Amino acid sequence: MIDDQASSLRKMKQSRLIKVIAVTGGKGGVGKTNITLNTAIAMAKRGKRVMVLDADLGLANVDVMLGLRVERNLSHVLSGECTLDEILVTGPHGIKIAPATSGTQSMAELTPTEHAGLIRAFSELRSEIDVLIVDTAAGISDMVLSFSRASQDIMVVVCDEPTSLTDAYALIKLLNREHGVFRFKVVANMVRDVREGQELFNKLSKVTGRFLDVALELVATIPFDENIRRAVRKQTAIVDAFPGSPAALAISQLANNALTWPIPAQPGGHLEFFLEQLVSEKAVGN
Ligand SMILES: Nc1ncnc2c1ncn2[C@@H]1O[C@H](COP(=O)(O)OP(=O)(O)OP(=O)(O)O)[C@@H](O)[C@H]1O
Ligand SMILES: [Mg+2]
Repeated sequence: MIDDQASSLRKMKQSRLIKVIAVTGGKGGVGKTNITLNTAIAMAKRGKRVMVLDADLGLANVDVMLGLRVERNLSHVLSGECTLDEILVTGPHGIKIAPATSGTQSMAELTPTEHAGLIRAFSELRSEIDVLIVDTAAGISDMVLSFSRASQDIMVVVCDEPTSLTDAYALIKLLNREHGVFRFKVVANMVRDVREGQELFNKLSKVTGRFLDVALELVATIPFDENIRRAVRKQTAIVDAFPGSPAALAISQLANNALTWPIPAQPGGHLEFFLEQLVSEKAVGN
């Protein structure tokens, strides 16, 4: 088993660099799934091969949002019933979506067989990808922390509600104190204008600055835009349905910028590093 895992990992070491971004936020309903999907689609429109890992076990799953039919999910991959390629659903502009595993099992609780299954599944992935975006659930569950700490970049989505800021702070604090993460990219969503986004960011960085040793960066300000809800009702993405709308323009800009974020050189820039982190013994809950 361990040998299998090691050889799968070795195989992947020869693989290309890949950018892995987690979209998280602490609070529910701040816009994580919309930002994940639209960023993925905007990147795909620029010719990138993008995969979305739907790690959100909530109701508004990415497949539901795009009206896609999903039959199998990651749990079938973990149990060895099928390959990762077989569960992938193709979305707009060819983005690949890996539907979440059902249940609330934490990565730290996977059995050795499931660990090996997960690593093998990714090492056997035939679909070449340039970017992996992980849509996490609300809250600070083990699952959310595992996916976030394993990613190269963590986008923390906040909106102008006191609970959004306190939840984002709790998430940042936990990732920092327990898992040594110190860089966070903040996205201010549903704001009136750039100034309001900046003010929101300032509030968050004021508290983190006082109590934590972390580096926050405001990477996008996405305005409140009815077109997001209109697009969701049509089960499309705003960057497709209303590409000239304010939120679509802001998300497209975010996608362009994210493509320029450096991918760490060895060892953090490969898919196997993400997986090693995801399932490592140091994972949360231990
Ligand atoms: N910029 C925006 N302008 C207007 N409405 C928005 C914006 N961003 C998101 N929304 C709306 O907010 C709601 C929540 O969005 P979304 O499902 O993406 O959030 P989430 O953080 O993924 O939620 P959950 O924690 O439940 O997974 C949706 O109805 C969506 O249409
Ligand atoms: Mg969501």
